[in-house]
Amino acid sequence: MGAPAAEKPLPFHLRGNYAPVQEEVTLTDLRVEGAIPPELRGLFVRNGPNPRSGSSAHWFVGDGMLHGIRFEAGRAAWYRNRWLRTRSFNEDPPPALISPDGTVDRSVAVANTHIVRHAGRILALVESSFPTQVTPGLDTIGLHDFGGRLTTAMTAHPKLCPLTGEMHFFGYGFFPPYLTYHRVDATGALVQSEEIPVKGPTMIHDFAITEHHVLFLDLPVVFDLEKAMAGLAPQSASAGAEQRGDGLPYHWSDDYGARIGVMPRGAGAESLRWFEISPCYIFHPFNAFETDDGRIVLDVCRYPKLWATNSGEFDSARPHRFTINLAAGSVAETPLFDDAAEFPRIDDRRAGVRARYGYAAANPPVGDFERQGRPIIVKYDLTAGTRQVHDLGGRVPSEAVFAPAQATAGEDEGWLIAYAFDEARGASDVVILDAQHIERAPVATIHLPRRVPYGFHGNWFPDE
Ligand SMILES: [Fe+2]
Repeated sequence: MGAPAAEKPLPFHLRGNYAPVQEEVTLTDLRVEGAIPPELRGLFVRNGPNPRSGSSAHWFVGDGMLHGIRFEAGRAAWYRNRWLRTRSFNEDPPPALISPDGTVDRSVAVANTHIVRHAGRILALVESSFPTQVTPGLDTIGLHDFGGRLTTAMTAHPKLCPLTGEMHFFGYGFFPPYLTYHRVDATGALVQSEEIPVKGPTMIHDFAITEHHVLFLDLPVVFDLEKAMAGLAPQSASAGAEQRGDGLPYHWSDDYGARIGVMPRGAGAESLRWFEISPCYIFHPFNAFETDDGRIVLDVCRYPKLWATNSGEFDSARPHRFTINLAAGSVAETPLFDDAAEFPRIDDRRAGVRARYGYAAANPPVGDFERQGRPIIVKYDLTAGTRQVHDLGGRVPSEAVFAPAQATAGEDEGWLIAYAFDEARGASDVVILDAQHIERAPVATIHLPRRVPYGFHGNWFPDE
């Protein structure tokens, strides 16, 4: 059978609460402390990597698993976790994303990064592949390629415009076209696909919209074809990648440069303008919006550098603001807060318009977070430049997702919901905070009898 246990410690993404869980369960009669707000009727679900084999070459490439909890009538009706039944999960050995002849198979889909709902469809997403549709009970339906109209991958971070009901997204590729923008109308039909010319293949994780523009991030973490092809060969030089956790074919480039692309919504790539910025990497924006005097503000969590030595190393990102002056053709940069912060979110009903508040995990479970200090959930007032903190008493939060008290509630009127791992119990809680008073004790804590591994992104789907 397998080789004896290696002397070398496992990479971070296979240890502790990053390690995958081995069973799917459905649990009812959950232990609740406090009172679940009766206004919360719907599903909180978070995606994340959970390699079925127990091992993966990098944190980002394990089979996707959904962790969902359903709230209704002031109670937690159930918690369940389900693997995404993708081709990667179902086939042994899993199919290759990139074939030796250079073809990319967009149906491979570990589907491990995010989950969104648009036009009545719930889609689990990973940026290398087509979306995977699931039921509200977290069972896999299958790939969704918008009736055959989608011919590129789909980012895990589409933007749902609260003004039009459209879903905007992009796909990036290892080979041309490197970047393609897509727009889906409110009925779920893919109505626009635009190739966006960029210099080369880079990792583009997320983007932003405003009322009148789409913003692209062309940043210096570039695709490494040699490393990708080496990874396809048996007994290859990358065979040790699983032990090192550096199994992604991307690296930092000192030469590529960094820029933000601004394209008017509804226009084509000929109207796109690029704005040079200082080199950095950005996985996630909080939001972008237009000011009254015609500037575009983009707030992000910014890494000064990423993967300069290998793709298993993460430094800290900090909240940072770009202000783009379209008339002057210039961009100004301002650090916003000193926290090491990731998983930035807003009240998504403000996506693309001015949102006053941003939420994030500070000292988050990204990479070697043990050295960063006590993890907390932070609420930023992005207008006033102030912050409030919720100390979880040593528990480590996943991304905190905003759930409005009702559809017509104002910004920030509602709750933040997050999984939080309690090392002392060896299990996870679901924590519900009053978003307007996050420093207070949670309004409710659901103590799960199991752990939910650290993962990526989730959403709140209120009953429709
Ligand atoms: Fe992400």
